[in-house]
Amino acid sequence: MKKTRMTTSHSNPTTAFDGLAAAMKEHRAAIDARLERILPPADAAPAAIHQAMRHAVFAGGKRLRPILALMTCEMCGGDAALAMPAACALEMIHTYSLVHDDLPAMDNDDFRRGNPTCHKVFGEAIAILAGDALLTHAFEVLAKEPANSAAVIAEIATAAGTQGMIGGQVMDINSADLPPDADLVRSIHERKTAALIRQAVRTGAIIAGANAQDLASASDYGEKTGLAYQVVDDMLDREATTEQLGKTAGKDAESGKQTYPAVFGLEASHKKAEELIEQARHSLAPFGNNARHLCALAEFIVARKS
Ligand code: IPE
Ligand code: IPE
Ligand code: MG
Ligand code: MG
Ligand code: MG
Repeated sequence: MKKTRMTTSHSNPTTAFDGLAAAMKEHRAAIDARLERILPPADAAPAAIHQAMRHAVFAGGKRLRPILALMTCEMCGGDAALAMPAACALEMIHTYSLVHDDLPAMDNDDFRRGNPTCHKVFGEAIAILAGDALLTHAFEVLAKEPANSAAVIAEIATAAGTQGMIGGQVMDINSADLPPDADLVRSIHERKTAALIRQAVRTGAIIAGANAQDLASASDYGEKTGLAYQVVDDMLDREATTEQLGKTAGKDAESGKQTYPAVFGLEASHKKAEELIEQARHSLAPFGNNARHLCALAEFIVARKS
């Protein structure tokens, strides 16, 4: 059943951030508990693949995408419990993308989520299969949950596919060492990162039964936030330490990647991230106080240091 929408104005930023931290902590614990149940046990045969999947998922991770799905479901008046399986599926898809992103044939990274990467621990063959398995398992989980319509499952596939995340990864790899290009970098980032983040938000809204107008507003928030998220990821690659990030810092410049700082410099990139976040927050105006966590989360994305 839908909860009644409140329409009071936004709370002040300090209160909003405090409330956000508590809500994120609560969601994260629930997501981790559900992932623990959803993933095959580490000792189930063949154990190597299940251990590798669990290594990648439980090494850490901010759980941004599932948190976005759950918070959006709540913002749209839905029951977050119904969105939990889809939220976990989105995290599995994201984690698979990280396992493959780190492979020697792609970004060749030794650390992820503060731990050695999946291929460093289990070897390349098992890491490739662990990524495949996380993706496959995500769609099994999605298909088994009656709250997920075929339409929303299809949307998730599109966002993760060659028009979305995979397409962005292809462009990212193929455009390394080209001269920095503003249109190109935006188009890469919209695909490789914003598509799945936008989809997390859309999934939460659709499961809540949002009307077309609310879905469009939420989608817009997801798109802007998703792009800002990758702009900040690019900035952190330059500005933060490996210890802070839990992944190797300074890799993008070394690999000649198309990044916002490479195209615009750090200061202008920060400004662009802030503009995107402002637009994202503006998109949620119709939700009034029910959008307080997602508005604060957008600010957190620009302020984050890891
Ligand atoms: C890293 O994603 C890759 C990007 C798309 C920027 P996150 O920064 O969300 O990584 P985790 O899930 O917290 O490890
Ligand atoms: C990766 O972008 C986006 C994905 C789809 C995984 P990056 O290559 O910048 O992500 P990190 O910095 O390794 O986490
Ligand atoms: Mg990459
Ligand atoms: Mg990478
Ligand atoms: Mg990066």
